[in-house]
Amino acid sequence: MNRNKETTTVLIIDDSQFIINSVTRMILNYHERAILCLSALSGEKGLSLFETQDVDLVLLDYEMPNMDGIQVLRKIREKDTDTPVIVMTAQMEEEYETMAFSNGATDFIHKPFSEKVITARIEHQLSYANMQKQMRKEIERHKELAEKRLKQNYEILSETIKALAKTIDKKDPYTRGHSERVAFYSRCLAKCCGISDENELNNIYYAGLLHDIGKIGIPATIIRKSTKLTDEEYARIKEHTTIGYEILKKVKSNPLLGLGAHYHHEHYDGTGYPQKLKGDEIPFVARIICVADAYDAMTSHRSYHDTMPQEMVKKQLKEGLGTQFDPQICRIMLNLIDMDVNYLMKQLDTDDYDDDTDEN
Ligand SMILES: [Fe+2]
Repeated sequence: MNRNKETTTVLIIDDSQFIINSVTRMILNYHERAILCLSALSGEKGLSLFETQDVDLVLLDYEMPNMDGIQVLRKIREKDTDTPVIVMTAQMEEEYETMAFSNGATDFIHKPFSEKVITARIEHQLSYANMQKQMRKEIERHKELAEKRLKQNYEILSETIKALAKTIDKKDPYTRGHSERVAFYSRCLAKCCGISDENELNNIYYAGLLHDIGKIGIPATIIRKSTKLTDEEYARIKEHTTIGYEILKKVKSNPLLGLGAHYHHEHYDGTGYPQKLKGDEIPFVARIICVADAYDAMTSHRSYHDTMPQEMVKKQLKEGLGTQFDPQICRIMLNLIDMDVNYLMKQLDTDDYDDDTDEN
């Protein structure tokens, strides 16, 4: 299509050559626009031109042999809902007009019509179509802009949460990368439990990242202690769940953050902390994190043990099935371990961590 974009193309479909000629003459006398007139003497030919040419407006005769105007109109609207179509007829009955509009006509005109009327109608339809086109473009532009901003905000949020998670892990050099790995395993487990919604999976991932945020409020000397904790020290450590909840409960956009931090040390049989919740009383996200947390503790280097052999990990998980762990989630973890024949899923690489640690 080489025609000048400034040219408006009008397609006239009418089985009368006389009508085509007279309408073409009227349109060409209209000097407000550069108009190119295409014409077809049947509905079939008209449709073929419509499909192959860049048509801006259609003038369509209602009554034609074989394929009438309404049939042509329906075919046009199957593929194109935007191009204005003005239906022309000599019939004065109301139902003709109603039928044309209900099938997608944008205007209706009775024959015979004057040059003034036809050009005014064409101008009105083209201006309206152009306005709609501009409006759609503008909506599209705003949509793209909003999506871009949303993506940027999401990246900032994601990086900020990861940075926060690293801050927690830095308190204990032996568990570095723990939060990111727990987040990763939590997401995997949630997906295997049948969650497919990306937003929900991301919310669970972030809950995994921040599950230990409460450790910020526990002295590093206790967190880093490699010898047995006193009862008092253990009681302090346990406080990280409630401290974490206090920090995250205000994040209304993702309530899973607070729930994950608060309840990830609850046990399925009701022997955990801080509230001794039991079974399904424990929020799903916390039951997921509980398994992911334990798996990472067993499969990463800690101050008090090396990476555990896979068989030992499985044995401990089986021992905790139904007592410490939600049985369904624990079975999924065991299946994942069985699939991991080369034991690649241990202390997975996360982003680089600095070796220097804070002393507070
Ligand atoms: Fe924890």
